[in-house]
Amino acid sequence: MFRQETNDSGKLGVWQPMYRDSDYTFTRYLSAKKTVDDRALNRRVWDRLKQELSSCYSGNRIKILEIGAGIGTMLERSLEWDLFGCSEYTALDAMPENISEAQSRVPTWASCLSYSIDDLGRNRFRLRHSHRDIMVRLETADIFEFMDSDLSDTPWDLLIANAFLDLVDVPSTLPKLLALLKPGGLFYFTINFDGGTIFQPDIDPQLDTHIKALYHRTMDCRIVAGKSSGDSRTGRHFFEHVRCSGAELLDAGSSDWIVFAGPDGYPADEAFFLHFIVHTVGSALAGHPDLDSKRLAEWIRYRHAQIDNGTLVYIAHQMDFLGRYKGVART
Ligand SMILES: C[S@@+](CC[C@H](N)C(=O)[O-])C[C@H]1O[C@@H](n2cnc3c(N)ncnc32)[C@H](O)[C@@H]1O
Repeated sequence: MFRQETNDSGKLGVWQPMYRDSDYTFTRYLSAKKTVDDRALNRRVWDRLKQELSSCYSGNRIKILEIGAGIGTMLERSLEWDLFGCSEYTALDAMPENISEAQSRVPTWASCLSYSIDDLGRNRFRLRHSHRDIMVRLETADIFEFMDSDLSDTPWDLLIANAFLDLVDVPSTLPKLLALLKPGGLFYFTINFDGGTIFQPDIDPQLDTHIKALYHRTMDCRIVAGKSSGDSRTGRHFFEHVRCSGAELLDAGSSDWIVFAGPDGYPADEAFFLHFIVHTVGSALAGHPDLDSKRLAEWIRYRHAQIDNGTLVYIAHQMDFLGRYKGVART
């Protein structure tokens, strides 16, 4: 069915997978994703956030909540890119292994950035460097349970969610998320998938298109805890959801993932990132009634082989949003 291509390990027919199923850990994926997100995040939207924070909160401690924070790469980036000064940063994720990974990463990257670190116990850290004094709290929690708990009682100045909103039902979740903010508080929702997946070079254009369509449909049909959770076009639909929620959109921009190999191969751990994506597509579509399992397996093997020989280019269309909550103060 497919052209035979040689790669480092010879013909595709003898291509051996580099990773076993157990190697595909989510924490390594999130770590590998960091450099991809670094390139993708829309700098104009980022700069506007930075400007809003410095004009609205100059000199004041900012209370920040990040939801679906994974292993804490957005917090790392915020310090690397100098987003804010003094703050209380709570990073929340439902997966304990992510929070545990974040906990072990904090001292490493904070000391690389010349921060002094006080480990306050119970997943709390105080990070200090020149004018910055940041209290970090890492929490394993489901956001839906968190929103109903006492912990969410103090309203936040800034709500961050990176690569998260496309996993939930935005129309029903957004109003509850925004209600966590103080009136005038900011939301920064980034890397929201928007229905565009490109794998190049083509293998079999018809099959490529079919696989992508079925894969996107798995996002639209995802059910979590009995509720519809996900939208493969979260980006474009977000404008309407914000309008309905009464919040103000301050800026929006593309944040496409574009991953390709340069003369030295894929940067950082991005080959693993690509293998993980291809593996995820394969797992999501395994046993799909509208797909011949042998053709899918061959397609997946071929995509992995393209990564090994550095020819795979992967693009995912995504969007970033910055906005302001205009709601009323909570009592
Ligand atoms: C695609 S990952 C993105 C992680 C991180 N923001 C990043 O970009 O590296 C989505 C994250 O959301 C978390 N998550 C999903 N549903 C959640 C929920 N209901 N409450 C809290 N976290 C959740 C997952 O555990 C996962 O770490």
